[in-house]
Amino acid sequence: MSNEKGNAMSDEKENPWGLKTDSNRTSNPGFNRETTATEVASTFSNVVRGKTVIVVGVSPKSLGESITLAFAANSPQLLVLASRTMSKIKAVATKVKEQYPNVQLQLVEVDLSSFASIREAATEINNLVDEIDILVNNAGVVVTDPRTTKDGLELQFGTNHIGIFLLTNLLMPKILEAAQKSQSKGSTRIINMTSAGHLISPIRFSDYNFKKRPEEIPEDERPMSRPGASFDPPPGKTYVPFVAYGQSKTGNILMALSISQKLASEGVRSIATHPGSIWTDMSRNLDEEHRNIIEKTGDFWKNQDQGGATTLVAALDPKLAEDKDIIYLADCQVAGCAPWASDPKAAARLWELSEEIVGQKFDLGQASNL
Ligand SMILES: NC(=O)c1ccc[n+]([C@@H]2O[C@H](COP(=O)([O-])OP(=O)(O)OC[C@H]3O[C@@H](n4cnc5c(N)ncnc54)[C@H](OP(=O)(O)O)[C@@H]3O)[C@@H](O)[C@H]2O)c1
Repeated sequence: MSNEKGNAMSDEKENPWGLKTDSNRTSNPGFNRETTATEVASTFSNVVRGKTVIVVGVSPKSLGESITLAFAANSPQLLVLASRTMSKIKAVATKVKEQYPNVQLQLVEVDLSSFASIREAATEINNLVDEIDILVNNAGVVVTDPRTTKDGLELQFGTNHIGIFLLTNLLMPKILEAAQKSQSKGSTRIINMTSAGHLISPIRFSDYNFKKRPEEIPEDERPMSRPGASFDPPPGKTYVPFVAYGQSKTGNILMALSISQKLASEGVRSIATHPGSIWTDMSRNLDEEHRNIIEKTGDFWKNQDQGGATTLVAALDPKLAEDKDIIYLADCQVAGCAPWASDPKAAARLWELSEEIVGQKFDLGQASNL
């Protein structure tokens, strides 16, 4: 892989998806797929101390739980846990309180598949915090049948990208507040959980709601195709669940790219992370056929704590502040991603489309006026 400046990377290795990783661009070349979130957070304990951290998507057995526990172990000033189901957030909060009784917690309910809920939750969070140092957008959903959000969008794109886009932008003034106060430029971070599944699909700008067959959309919007992996819909159908998931996860990376470009000079960095393969509650909506497909995709299955590690590196490693061109991490190291997920033009186009969909402009070029 080369980065956007075209620099050749040193110490390159190929990961299982045929993309290069480079262990020279983080502080800890020794971190790898076996490293745990607990270990990463304790390595960067001084970075966590005193910070206000928001984790979005928090449930028992999810990566949101291991990520939350790793932050909690290192004395943040405040942890805000925001997710869809209050009883599940409370179950994780109870675990945190048992292990780290001094940690300040705030719990917020938000349904990322509803603009109204996102706007309400953003107001609540903005009233709870003075600033936001680290925002971890972990929430995500996988489904195998066509469903829509409350606002009529395809569910995975609408929740995993559009929902995250709206929530993040509504919290942006508090993120910029943290960046302004921070002594170390680039330590204010927005981390989007993506997936190697982004390799399945670019953004279907002309058909993000899956109303058309692949042959009816431009060639550069069609899903990945290679021998043995067809993502074509069955005859007469237009929806392919993993393509819709892939599109949403490409959105997570393009959004990180846009934010890093727009806000690097303000001291905000955004990075997308692929956590690896972990059996979590994510598979709850999968039928047997789709579970079988997923089972075959992982060559190494991580436990929950290992699954949170890459996100903790992205959120905390001071070395990542130096290079705004880093947009994607996998197995705790900087990695390459699909060309359609690292294209600044696609990022700008998606930003505009997302603004259009949510009905609000977020001109981060005018960040100081937000
Ligand atoms: N597990 C893997 O192997 C894997 C691989 C690649 C990428 N990822 C990514 O990692 C992230 C975490 O996934 P996970 O494996 O931990 O899955 P998970 O156990 O299903 O957790 C997903 C979290 O997102 C929340 N969520 C789902 N829909 C939501 C909505 N509409 N509004 C608010 N919150 C919502 C869930 O809350 P509820 O429980 O209340 O629904 C849950 O807390 C996802 O972004 C996923 O795409 C996971």
